[in-house]
Amino acid sequence: MNLIIRRPDDMHLHLRDGAILKSVIGATASNFGRAIIMPNLSPPVTTAAAAIAYRKRILAVLPEFSSFDPLMTVYLTDNTDPADVGEAIAGGHISAVKLYPAGSTTNSQSGVTDIERTRDVLAVLAETSTPLCVHGEVSDFGVDVFDREKIFIDRVLEKIVSWEPSLPIVLEHVTTADGIEFVRSNHPQTAATITVHHLILNRNHMFLGGLRPHYYCLPVAKREQHRQALLEAATGRETAFFLGTDSAPHLASDKETSVGCAGIFTAPVALSCLAHVFEDAGALQCLEEFASINGPRFYGLEPSPETVELRKRAAPIPVAHELPVGDDRIIIFDPGFNLYWEVVRNEGIHNEN
Ligand code: NCD
Ligand code: ZN
Repeated sequence: MNLIIRRPDDMHLHLRDGAILKSVIGATASNFGRAIIMPNLSPPVTTAAAAIAYRKRILAVLPEFSSFDPLMTVYLTDNTDPADVGEAIAGGHISAVKLYPAGSTTNSQSGVTDIERTRDVLAVLAETSTPLCVHGEVSDFGVDVFDREKIFIDRVLEKIVSWEPSLPIVLEHVTTADGIEFVRSNHPQTAATITVHHLILNRNHMFLGGLRPHYYCLPVAKREQHRQALLEAATGRETAFFLGTDSAPHLASDKETSVGCAGIFTAPVALSCLAHVFEDAGALQCLEEFASINGPRFYGLEPSPETVELRKRAAPIPVAHELPVGDDRIIIFDPGFNLYWEVVRNEGIHNEN
């Protein structure tokens, strides 16, 4: 059996920098046409100039003949200059601005401490119809980690929507039925990305037979009923929901330790896993909308004119478990089941010979 779909876009991706960037870029560039690149480097990408420079570093490590197009973002802080953001948008240098509540996730220390302080930037985004990508979790230690998305929606997101009703908002890596409902009731102004791993994992997986650091990410996976809500949204032909893998590589030594980093590296297996999940749900015919159509449309882009072909093999496909980086390695997401869907054709690499 095979499936041909327009080339997917990854609307939420971490590529990092330096040696990790070099190691991970191929996994995304070979399958995806574009990706919204997260700015949580250390130090973060907080200005237009930094986003332009980061894009150049990404282009410099692309495989030869790759047509992959990294779409850049700026990291919002309490002190972001609205004029800088406005110029970056006008110049076509950025596709979105990313809100990390300070302390909510990896490299979010410089994030926003008080949303009131970003109102001028939000106004620029609303005026230019530029999406605000939101890490939707409060960071208060006093709020239970499994409730942080819902509390963020109630305390912060509702406020942003009331201030700027025309602002396009992407609730990134949505993990709860509450998040899905919020997006549905505020669509078309709001949308959400859904990751591959949140379609597969519930919170039990993190503790299956022992503590599993490679299933730890933020927002953490929730109860099974929430995973079911995500699955229904992803496979239900709803234009408000689209793929953002949140593929987030960390060195194994940074995850297999007493205080391990949050983030799951899914890029190499993302499409195989997605085809598996959609087939299981009886929704293979909806995969293209989720992975290749709804995302670009929300960002005002045309879906890719190229295609990718997935073929279902009779036997499990061989998958690597890790990617070497210097003396260390990055562990590749293990969905916990065999994969049969393989990407077999790749028009994104134009071999001119
Ligand atoms: C991401 C990372 O490692 O940069 N981690 C994660 O668990 N998803 C940050 C983020 O998107 O929260
Ligand atoms: Zn992320």
